[in-house]
Amino acid sequence: MQTELGRERSGTGRLALMARLLTGALASVSTPGRAPTVLDCGGGSGAYAVPLAASGADVTVVDISADALATLRRRADETGVSASVHAVNGDVERLADHISDQFDLVLAHGILDAVDAVEETFAAMAGAVRPGGLISVLVANPFASVMARALAGEPALALQELRDLDAGVGPGIGPDTVDRLCRAAGLTVESRHGIGVFSDLVPGASLDAPGAREALARLDTEAADRPPFADLAGRIHLLVRRPAS
Ligand SMILES: C[S@@+](CC[C@H](N)C(=O)[O-])C[C@H]1O[C@@H](n2cnc3c(N)ncnc32)[C@H](O)[C@@H]1O
Repeated sequence: MQTELGRERSGTGRLALMARLLTGALASVSTPGRAPTVLDCGGGSGAYAVPLAASGADVTVVDISADALATLRRRADETGVSASVHAVNGDVERLADHISDQFDLVLAHGILDAVDAVEETFAAMAGAVRPGGLISVLVANPFASVMARALAGEPALALQELRDLDAGVGPGIGPDTVDRLCRAAGLTVESRHGIGVFSDLVPGASLDAPGAREALARLDTEAADRPPFADLAGRIHLLVRRPAS
């Protein structure tokens, strides 16, 4: 039976690439005879949680937004996976107040930028992964932001962001910070992919030619793990392993 993630994978574009990466992650942490368990930190309305549940995982979403969780519950209902999606209204900066189990896979997609105490929050996420399990991290790429500003006709702002990067005061949590957090927590980065390498740079209006969008998506996918292209993607995905013992 084709799974929900399988259907996403066979499509094109960023979601398809993320679905392929998450399918691999789920397979790598699965144990025969029981559903893999997933904790989605800041999982919002379930863009990842619902397809993961539809692929057989038991997913707990911790999010601070009651509205996002209401949408999550509705989507889970519509997809027929309510029993496998557990919505927890809470702050990931107080993760230990909300969850006590350890999970096979922990998602930290678009959440590290939203918290104040990044080190402590990431350490708590690392503690929520079982030994041998994985953390899937998705962060914005500060280098892509410089590029995007320049291409948008804002060279002065691009120059300022470039200098901020040199000074170590760049915006947000980038992949280098995640690398540092992983080393501090004793975790190993197993893979790193650029998400939206070209599609974040190309204006949609220039893609009217037949097949152009599909070709762009394929270009994104094939460049995702190839430096220097991957290093320019709008977002960077890292799969991080907690050592088995
Ligand atoms: C950029 S969205 C990412 C949503 C989802 N992870 C994704 O990648 O599609 C950030 C989410 O984090 C949630 N959030 C922000 N700060 C949070 C916090 N301190 N604790 C829990 N959730 C938080 C927001 O409500 C929102 O749903």
